[in-house]
Amino acid sequence: MRTRVLRFAEQEKLELNIHTGVHTGKVAVGIQGGIYDAFGNTVNLASRLESKAPSGRIYVGPSTYHATRDDFEYRATKPLDLKNVKKPIRAYEVLSGHEQVYRRLREREGVHSGLVGRQAELGKLLQALRALADGRGGIAAVLGDAGLGKSRLVAEMLALEEAKGATRLEARSLAIGKDLPFHPFQDLLKRWAEITVEDDETAAGRKLEAAVAARLPAEVGDVFPFVARLMNIRLTGSHAERVAGIAGEALEALIFKSVRDLLLALSRTRPLILVFEDLHWADESSAKLLHALLRLVLEAPILVVLVARADQLQNGRPVLEAARTEFAARLLEVRLDPLTGKQCHQLLENLVQIDHLPQTVRGLICERSGGNPFYLEEVVRSLMEDDSEAFRHVEALEDALRAVPGTIQELIMSRIERLPSSAQDLVQIAAVIGKSFPYRVIDAVTGREPRQLEWDLRRLVRRELIKRQTVQGESEYVFTHALVQETIYEGTAKETRLARAGCW
Ligand SMILES: Nc1ncnc2c1ncn2[C@@H]1O[C@H](COP(=O)(O)OP(=O)(O)OP(=O)(O)O)[C@@H](O)[C@H]1O
Ligand SMILES: [Mg+2]
Repeated sequence: MRTRVLRFAEQEKLELNIHTGVHTGKVAVGIQGGIYDAFGNTVNLASRLESKAPSGRIYVGPSTYHATRDDFEYRATKPLDLKNVKKPIRAYEVLSGHEQVYRRLREREGVHSGLVGRQAELGKLLQALRALADGRGGIAAVLGDAGLGKSRLVAEMLALEEAKGATRLEARSLAIGKDLPFHPFQDLLKRWAEITVEDDETAAGRKLEAAVAARLPAEVGDVFPFVARLMNIRLTGSHAERVAGIAGEALEALIFKSVRDLLLALSRTRPLILVFEDLHWADESSAKLLHALLRLVLEAPILVVLVARADQLQNGRPVLEAARTEFAARLLEVRLDPLTGKQCHQLLENLVQIDHLPQTVRGLICERSGGNPFYLEEVVRSLMEDDSEAFRHVEALEDALRAVPGTIQELIMSRIERLPSSAQDLVQIAAVIGKSFPYRVIDAVTGREPRQLEWDLRRLVRRELIKRQTVQGESEYVFTHALVQETIYEGTAKETRLARAGCW
């Protein structure tokens, strides 16, 4: 409209100009004075903004800004006193359309902090690493509630100099994996044999066989077929004959023995660190296998790291109990408590680099977080999404904080609800697929127009709900945190979930 009006004015040599106000919200519509019209506060505010906008400029209100700030470049105005509006409000001037968006994206930094506290915990894990370097195996259990920093602590441990000499393998259990036999071990073996989503069953089988053969050349015929069974890889020829007729407990025993032999072989060249992430979601078979593997720590330089939410252990419980009773001498338990008030303040300071963030406001945020770093990060993200200016104004921040929902789940859902509907749909589909999803899969599942898909994915990345990574040349997305995926999954109505799942 603006462009056309200005062009028309120029053509006709007219002194004609346009100023625009836009606001978003509920309106009432009806006939008034013989004219079909819209009324209500939203319309009034738009009209006030229009009158404040200098000629040729477009001012939008806060709710329009939130809904469209990914699509346009804006500059905030000073708070404006508007007629019949109680508090001064900030308007946003539209600077441009799409062309500027990407530059701004790159400039913006993620919400992330260096490690705060946890020195004692890290120190304990360091002991385990030193013992491992001396050839002594062990078990480290990292336990704590959701979001307290278990995965972070393990990442910090693996980044230590003392961990560099070891082979590190991760086995991740999934929230949806309780009925998927051996899924964390499949994850571990895939990483080890460098099997990717590109590999079909035959290719995967070949890679696995080659990897086993490299480690256990003499025993490959006895080990590979059973490891392949664990991986659900179909066998042919002599390998198929090797497993023919073996079932039930006998099969299980041979699978266990093969995994055991393989891990022992791996630990012969370098010490081995096996990280079992999110053990609370392990399936029964994996828990049983892991239990059986624990005694390897007495025989070889193998450090088994169990990472779990202690209060949700389920299939993982017997594993932890076995570690406590049978291997007490080799077990090191690290229990994460909430951060102290002081640490919370430190973390907050690292996350929000604003010098004059008032003490009362800091106190309020820390108190809300209950010492949970994930929650603290989420609160900061949520506030930044609301209005990056909020941090500069105590009152605005206090208002915003009051509106911050109480639990992590509510907080995440409220962030989702603020997304445009196409991005909401996308993130729900993604949550049904799992913690991570290759671009190819989400593309196939949604069947969306590529540009729209890219746009929504980018939006989710920017909101730090997911992040992009490249795994063996393939572009893939992962949820920034298991809780985000879980909450979206749980928060999506079952019917919707089924419909989503049905589309692939
Ligand atoms: N001590 C810390 N200092 C700075 N950031 C931290 C600290 N602890 C955790 N964080 C950050 O908080 C977030 C949550 O931590 P993390 O993912 O490790 O939690 P978790 O205990 O593994 O949760 P879950 O049980 O859901 O897997 C991460 O972004 C992490 O980087
Ligand atoms: Mg974790």
